[in-house]
Amino acid sequence: MNHYRAMLCHRLGPPAGPEAADFAMAELPRAALKPGQVRVGVQAAGVNFFDALMLRGEYQFKPPLPFVPGAEAAGIVLEAASDSGNWRPGDAVLLQCRLGAFAEEIVVPGEALLRKPDAYSFAEAAAFPVGATTAWGALVARGDLRAGENLLVLGAGGGMGLAAVALGARLGANVFALASSAEKRQAALDAGASITLDPSDADWLQKLRTGTGGMQVIFDPVGGAISQQALRALAPQGRYLVVGFAAGEAPRFAANRLLLSEAAIIGVRAGEQVRRNPALAAPMRQALQDWLTSDAGRPLIGAILPLENANEALLRLAQRQVLGKLVLRIGL
Ligand SMILES: NC(=O)c1ccc[n+]([C@@H]2O[C@H](COP(=O)([O-])OP(=O)(O)OC[C@H]3O[C@@H](n4cnc5c(N)ncnc54)[C@H](OP(=O)(O)O)[C@@H]3O)[C@@H](O)[C@H]2O)c1
Repeated sequence: MNHYRAMLCHRLGPPAGPEAADFAMAELPRAALKPGQVRVGVQAAGVNFFDALMLRGEYQFKPPLPFVPGAEAAGIVLEAASDSGNWRPGDAVLLQCRLGAFAEEIVVPGEALLRKPDAYSFAEAAAFPVGATTAWGALVARGDLRAGENLLVLGAGGGMGLAAVALGARLGANVFALASSAEKRQAALDAGASITLDPSDADWLQKLRTGTGGMQVIFDPVGGAISQQALRALAPQGRYLVVGFAAGEAPRFAANRLLLSEAAIIGVRAGEQVRRNPALAAPMRQALQDWLTSDAGRPLIGAILPLENANEALLRLAQRQVLGKLVLRIGL
């Protein structure tokens, strides 16, 4: 077979409605491998909030049309070019990429692959890399989170949020998790949070501040009004990590508040960190590998849908319905 199936976006737009993206299954020609590349038969692909932003043309990275979205996957090596590392056909792997994971096959450089632990299902492995990279890029590379510090995670039941809860707990922080449903809060507790809070509780901020001494670090993938409130929970000289705007709006922080508490607002762009600073590649890869093999980073899979239902997957994320990660089933 010289073709494979993939979800291809021909026109940008939301996942549903009259203005919906033209995003449908297509047959694509298989290209020959270049030196250093590996072809992976995808078994499962993780779905991320930014995939929906990309399809709407609202993400910072705007690929030319047509394109196949999808930034993480797990599968089986089908073919490996001679200088692509020690990969062999049949190896079970996981990977992170900029595009292309919503497909039966993907070609990536050998160094983009990690070995799938036997204990992980393909769905769990596919859902690991983006959350792990983002949590590490935020909490370690930018946030310098230390054992014993207080960490507040917003959107703690989502993909990035749960990964940050798990990594924060692994690093020895006291993790406080804010999430909108009992199910999401329970997931945060299971991932290592000590205390959970409900943003619909009028006293959540007061409860958080009472007796904690404040949060040394805040991980915020949500944005909007909740961020303005959360800033008030920051301890003197705390670090506020701006990770994303799932609520649809970038928060505006008052400079006088930053001055009073000597707070640092820190932007995080985990996918760019290694491109900007190649020296980070080795420690990041080592941290991800250790985390993966320790089993503590195993993501919670809220739902699995077939690849052809990628539109529905993106809709569910936009409607705030996903617990942990949503995964597309491909070869499974
Ligand atoms: N900076 C980086 O390097 C980086 C890397 C990856 C992702 N991101 C960004 O991180 C953000 C979260 O991504 P994700 O994959 O974790 O998404 P997700 O799984 O959908 O989680 C986002 C969470 O945000 C909360 N939320 C509040 N208002 C929402 C709304 N109107 N719509 C949807 N969710 C809302 C929800 O939690 P509650 O229901 O509990 O409020 C939800 O669980 C996105 O903006 C993404 O682009 C940034």
